Amino acid sequence: MPANTQTLLLLPGDGIGPEVTAEARRVAEMVAPDLQLEEALFGGVSYDAHGEPLTKEVMARAHEVDAILMGAVGGPKWDGVPRSKRPEAALLAMRKALDVYANLRPAFCFPALASSSALKQHLVEGLDILIVRELTSGVYFGEPKEITQLANGERRGVDTQSYTSGEIRRVAARAFELARGRKGKGQRFGGVLSCEKSNVMESGVLWREEVTKLHKEQYSDVQLDHMLADAAAMHLVKAPKDINVLLADNLFGDILSDEAAMLTGSIGMLPSAALGDPGVPGLYEPVHGSAPDIAGKGLANPCAAILSLEMVMRWSLGRPDAADRIFKAVNAALDAGARTADIGGKLSTRQMGDAILKQL
Ligand code: IPM
Ligand code: MG
Repeated sequence: MPANTQTLLLLPGDGIGPEVTAEARRVAEMVAPDLQLEEALFGGVSYDAHGEPLTKEVMARAHEVDAILMGAVGGPKWDGVPRSKRPEAALLAMRKALDVYANLRPAFCFPALASSSALKQHLVEGLDILIVRELTSGVYFGEPKEITQLANGERRGVDTQSYTSGEIRRVAARAFELARGRKGKGQRFGGVLSCEKSNVMESGVLWREEVTKLHKEQYSDVQLDHMLADAAAMHLVKAPKDINVLLADNLFGDILSDEAAMLTGSIGMLPSAALGDPGVPGLYEPVHGSAPDIAGKGLANPCAAILSLEMVMRWSLGRPDAADRIFKAVNAALDAGARTADIGGKLSTRQMGDAILKQL
């Protein structure tokens, strides 16, 4: 193997994960035939095979490759499994271990899908938002995190929202840099729109102060606005095109990105990239879940997985030309009328993959 061979680790996972990842794999083989592809078990399927949703071997391999493309994890089958062995725990452990703190979730409305959105067409036509979600801290990871028995017989569930200034600054820096690289469209919030709940949360106060400070020190050329996260949720459905880059913590970013997904027509269209410091392998995944209700039926939309591959090419492998090719092919396939059920068509997962491959 030549020394400069790049490796992509595929983790198809559970539910519709394997179906959509298979299509992304075919696209990868086409646009980057020299790319080394590996596959491993992850999530529920790994738990079934090894009693662990993420084995040490797979985790070790993840640190060595250039990028990781995940399908989806979880499903009702593992509902009764203890939290630490749940498929979702594997995902959180992987994000944490790789320290991929900046989660890029682009909400882009393909012209052909503007009429598929739940919102009126004029509100989403030309929509191009980049959500930057903090991914390795906050309430997902804060301690204590427990359910305890109280003396009065009740039980108490606790999660801890915690952020350090360093954790806020590094993800905010990424958001500012990304905003610099994006052509603004003269939007009302044309730079970074930072969201928190500083009206009720101390971590939100710190978030706002640190983002403001960093902006003043290093990024004053970028427009910065702040908005309470609940108001941002409202603004996303009222006038989404006002927003360019939306920065939020782990939990608010999770919720706001699902909301933004619906603006684009379907959550089946949304890719994501989780990035750490330079040199760290990126972790890529469709924003959609494992969709157990349609798993194995060939109904899932492979676009989010294929567009996640596009992000792999762009952000981890330094192959912008391959990325552009993928993006254009997805756009052309949609323009030609290719649609899975979630976006109002009849194509199967494989047929949608075929339609995109044909455009490459
Ligand atoms: C996501 C998902 C995950 C999250 C779940 C599956 C743990 O909703 O990536 O948005 O909450 O981060
Ligand atoms: Mg989510």
